[in-house]
Amino acid sequence: MVDGGRLWKRLSELAEIGKQEDGGVARLSFTKEERAAKDLVASYMQEAGLSVREDVAGNLFGRREGRDPNVPAVLIGSHVDSVLNGGDFDGPLGVLGGIEVLQTMNEEGVETERPVEVVAFTDEEGARFSLGMIGSRALTGTLSPEDLRHEDRDGVSIEQAMRDAGLDPGKIGDAVRSPDSLAAYLELHIEQGKVLEGENLPVGVVTGIAGPAWLRLSFTGEAGHAGTTPMGARRDALAAAAEVVGVVEEEASATGSTVGTVGQIEARPGGINIIPGGVELSLDLRDIDEAVRDGVEGRIRERAGEVCGRRGVALSFEELQRLPPAPCSEEIRASIAAACEKEGIKPHSLPSGAGHDGMHVAELCPMGMIFVRSKDGISHNPKEWSSREDCEAGCKILYLTVLDLAER
Ligand code: GLV
Ligand code: MN
Ligand code: MN
Ligand code: MN
Repeated sequence: MVDGGRLWKRLSELAEIGKQEDGGVARLSFTKEERAAKDLVASYMQEAGLSVREDVAGNLFGRREGRDPNVPAVLIGSHVDSVLNGGDFDGPLGVLGGIEVLQTMNEEGVETERPVEVVAFTDEEGARFSLGMIGSRALTGTLSPEDLRHEDRDGVSIEQAMRDAGLDPGKIGDAVRSPDSLAAYLELHIEQGKVLEGENLPVGVVTGIAGPAWLRLSFTGEAGHAGTTPMGARRDALAAAAEVVGVVEEEASATGSTVGTVGQIEARPGGINIIPGGVELSLDLRDIDEAVRDGVEGRIRERAGEVCGRRGVALSFEELQRLPPAPCSEEIRASIAAACEKEGIKPHSLPSGAGHDGMHVAELCPMGMIFVRSKDGISHNPKEWSSREDCEAGCKILYLTVLDLAER
């Protein structure tokens, strides 16, 4: 069976790459940190006896042949990039768990009918370019030329960052994977929520992934002297934006299911004695039900328009990404549940609020996910934690599920 100690050691080694002074990690896409993480992962793939290759999007694959090399493969995946000041488990657990499964199969001489591959996708988080899942989008052929023009805060586009990393964005189409080459996609991931902790269970079966809509709101008022402009004569872009942040919270809360977050704010010109003339806000809206999410968005747009109209502030919306929710395959869910039963774990089903590469890979083949319990539900935070025992339990479930799917 899988070696929990080896998995834990590799998680700890990978966590050293991009480590910040406060204990968080920062591995943004196409940086030397993401590169170093992929190089380390490639060395683990080699130790595991896999054949290693990287595609034009920087997706790193390790493959183990089956009895029949020509049938569609089972793909296991996740990512090694992180958000700014992220934790040690979001992403790495799925990649290293996949390698652990294949290394165990090699050590135990287990044969499978299908080939099995593990992939470390490029940039799942979207932390650098406000566009996530770059690698898995490339795999499905949905990464458009406009997508490649998304820029980071320094004005560097994805295209440019790829060139700087030695990748040719003009050949991005070469990363496309045919649906005929894949039988199933599986991802092992930390829950990033508190459901499993509440249920006192180490792992869970994911039902589907909530769809994110990411927008940028630009407010244009008028900058002016903070000392001489009476309160009634202002067109303060930040005061308008602050009201809209409240609207986001109200409208999302009212549904009981949608989550809405303003995570970035920039006020210009940014002086202590200057009325802010321009503000940009980010908006992240998610729901497992697309119509509910889009209803919240519609009401936010309407009420934000009223706020700005009243204040003499112009408002525009830019769409950064919009994805529908992705349901997990019923068959894969049943296979994961059977693996849980075999391990004496009550199969508990739960949705994913966080986005994952599986949302895109689901366009190519049936998709399923296994969640591992998160301590206090904390994630995208240096305090993110899952115990060694829970990571090992999740990896065992992954092993049994892969074994089942690779024999079908
Ligand atoms: C990334 O993990 C996201 O869900 O935004
Ligand atoms: Mn993740
Ligand atoms: Mn994440
Ligand atoms: Mn994610």
